[in-house]
Amino acid sequence: MRTTLRDIARLHADGRRFTMVTAYDYTSARLAERAGIPLILVGDSLGMVVQGHDSTLPVTVDDIVYHARSVVRGCETPLVVGDLPFLTYATTSEAIDAARRVMAEGGCGSVKLEGGRVVVGTVRTLVDAGVPVMGHLGFTPQSQHAIGLRVQGRDAGAARALVLDALALQEAGAWAIVLELVPAPLAREVTALLDIPTIGIGAGPHTSGEVQVWHDVLGLFDAHVPRHTRRFATLGDDAVEALRALASAVEAGTFPGPENSARMDEDALAAELSGLGLPVDREPGRGKNDAGENGARQGQARAGGAGAGGDGTGRGEVEA
Ligand code: KIV
Repeated sequence: MRTTLRDIARLHADGRRFTMVTAYDYTSARLAERAGIPLILVGDSLGMVVQGHDSTLPVTVDDIVYHARSVVRGCETPLVVGDLPFLTYATTSEAIDAARRVMAEGGCGSVKLEGGRVVVGTVRTLVDAGVPVMGHLGFTPQSQHAIGLRVQGRDAGAARALVLDALALQEAGAWAIVLELVPAPLAREVTALLDIPTIGIGAGPHTSGEVQVWHDVLGLFDAHVPRHTRRFATLGDDAVEALRALASAVEAGTFPGPENSARMDEDALAAELSGLGLPVDREPGRGKNDAGENGARQGQARAGGAGAGGDGTGRGEVEA
């Protein structure tokens, strides 16, 4: 059963903090679910961490739908939230169309959009149409060229505006609000003022929940670690080490080994080749027709269908 808005509201009412993590594909969604994470965000941060852009602006609804489908296929319990990308909700009809696609085609259970009082009309229309909406205040990456890449709400006027935005979003029917790069005391006050949960990122420890970007918390990048995040693993370094080990094993001829390769009746093979007037080469590790390569491919093709066993990915096991 998927987590519902009511489940999150209950956690919040019980004063239990919860985690949302971004994910952009099937495998990550499976891992997040195994970790018991109740909320997955298919964020437009994918523009940077998956597509390599320097902002979220180039991300399209097609992109969110594509990644959301994979994420939804990868998990059964987390509630999947999909971002409405830059300028896809500037008018109410555009917002309805984008939300329809993210939910009906992508399979998400909620959308998230950025902005405060300026988007309140849109939020209300979506909520009235049955679309659960998560708000997003503070540093809103889609406006980064307008507001700069920095903590928001530090001075009294900006803090006041953020409080009014949060109250307006709640009033319009948003079920939760992300607070990004907001001073911790302001996030604490907003959280105390609202009935709905706040979900912080760079907003201190007093929000109702926390959202983090997959690549940041798993240490998939070797570049600078932003202050608002923490590496809970160094999977990037682990991956480089593993790939080096793979390359060494391939070069040394120790991978693939017999356990990775399919066998066959070699006498029958030799007889067939001889019958065709072709030479027979039984020296291990030589030539592209060695059983290691072709045998493994055939084994995968036989076992590759859904439900073929293996690691649950449908890839199946290579038959010996
Ligand atoms: O796109 C995203 O990943 C986000 C989170 C940083 C909240 O919006």
